[in-house]
Amino acid sequence: MKRVAILISGGGSNMVRLVEDMAGDHPCQPVLVASNDPDAGGLAKAAAMGLPTAAVDHRAYRGDRAGFEAALLEPILAVRPDIICLAGFMRILTPDFVERFQGRMLNIHPSLLPKYTGLHTHARAIEAGDAEAGATVHLVIPDLDAGPILGQARVPIMPGDTADRLAARVLIREHQLYPAVLRRFASGDQTPLYL
Ligand code: GAR
Repeated sequence: MKRVAILISGGGSNMVRLVEDMAGDHPCQPVLVASNDPDAGGLAKAAAMGLPTAAVDHRAYRGDRAGFEAALLEPILAVRPDIICLAGFMRILTPDFVERFQGRMLNIHPSLLPKYTGLHTHARAIEAGDAEAGATVHLVIPDLDAGPILGQARVPIMPGDTADRLAARVLIREHQLYPAVLRRFASGDQTPLYL
């Protein structure tokens, strides 16, 4: 059984979907949900599902990224995770942190990578006149949103779409994509899944 720690910053809807999927016949079990924001809505959801949670407020470490990451590492290392899933985790991690988990840290990003790394992905896709948007699950490497792709889900961009409407449509697909990719990854399959 692979032990999975999930890092979040917000509502945690992807985290919930991952945890729900692991409740069935699955090669993984969730062992921790951690956040850089003590007020992240996902922490309460994780606790309600009976999971251990941890919060390390990045605002207490202004200008001290190493200190923040050292504090974040503590609860993570304590649960001895095999896999880390970033699920709406909105802090950029240093190469030191990333390299510690290289090859076993996954991220979900709301664009069809390599297009639109970073923020405001949906607005940028609409502005560019793209016909499609989507989400990507990839392995995390020190370069932002640049690691090997493990899966992608596409959605059409509709006439009159706003960034919010598109984000909601992509999120529904994220909830299918991330659990499906984690299952495959945990079973040793790293060939990209295209939904
Ligand atoms: C998701 O859309 C995820 O792809 C995005 O944040 C949202 C989190 O939603 N992640 C990033 O932008 C990472 N750079 P959730 O908290 O409901 O899972």
